[in-house]
Amino acid sequence: MKIDILTLFPSMYDGFLNESIIGRAINDGKVEIKVHNIRDYSKDPHKKVDDYGYGGGAGMVLMPQPIFDAVDDIKTDDSYVILMTPQGKKYSQAEAKKLKDKKHIIIICGHYEGFDERIRSLADAEYSIGDYILTGGELASMVITDSVVRLIDGVILKESSEFESFENNLLDYPVYTHPEEFRGMKVPAVLLSGHHANIAKWRHDEQVKRTELRRPDLLEKEDH
Ligand code: ADE
Repeated sequence: MKIDILTLFPSMYDGFLNESIIGRAINDGKVEIKVHNIRDYSKDPHKKVDDYGYGGGAGMVLMPQPIFDAVDDIKTDDSYVILMTPQGKKYSQAEAKKLKDKKHIIIICGHYEGFDERIRSLADAEYSIGDYILTGGELASMVITDSVVRLIDGVILKESSEFESFENNLLDYPVYTHPEEFRGMKVPAVLLSGHHANIAKWRHDEQVKRTELRRPDLLEKEDH
């Protein structure tokens, strides 16, 4: 898979792309991720990328020319273009699973004060990562990238992604590690029993209990 990200702030991605699981996936050749500075595509002599909005109003608006030229330059027949905006479809694990099968994703990061409406015509999908306003689409694009890359075969252990929260509309069961007792809090005895069937039952019961308590909306989606 290849992911191209169009942003006004490329250095925001430095840590994200170099560390941990994403950094390793890139090094292992599981994904190729390139970050492009929208400003590099500006035809303005001063490399301007935004301007005052027609009709007045506060704030600068991202101009279409640099974005259209960037997408023209990067797009191939396999490309799927995503626009990050709080007005987009609410992003979820189900959307991540759909994106995982794309060969090439181009992510356009919006601008905190707005972007020219014509930029929308470039997008195959618009996503919001939640009902709050970020200063730009950069963090949102990292959320999408992270959630998709970890689903690529071989990036994380298969069991980790198959049985995790949201895969079966249940939250994860609680997990514990050493020591058996910490500040008076004990690991549930069943986990120390070595009895696999009992452990599996306890985990499933905990998942249901937890989901009922914290996210009852998930239980309405499917039978368990
Ligand atoms: N840009 C600004 N806020 C955003 C959000 N919540 N989701 C996606 N892109 C955004």
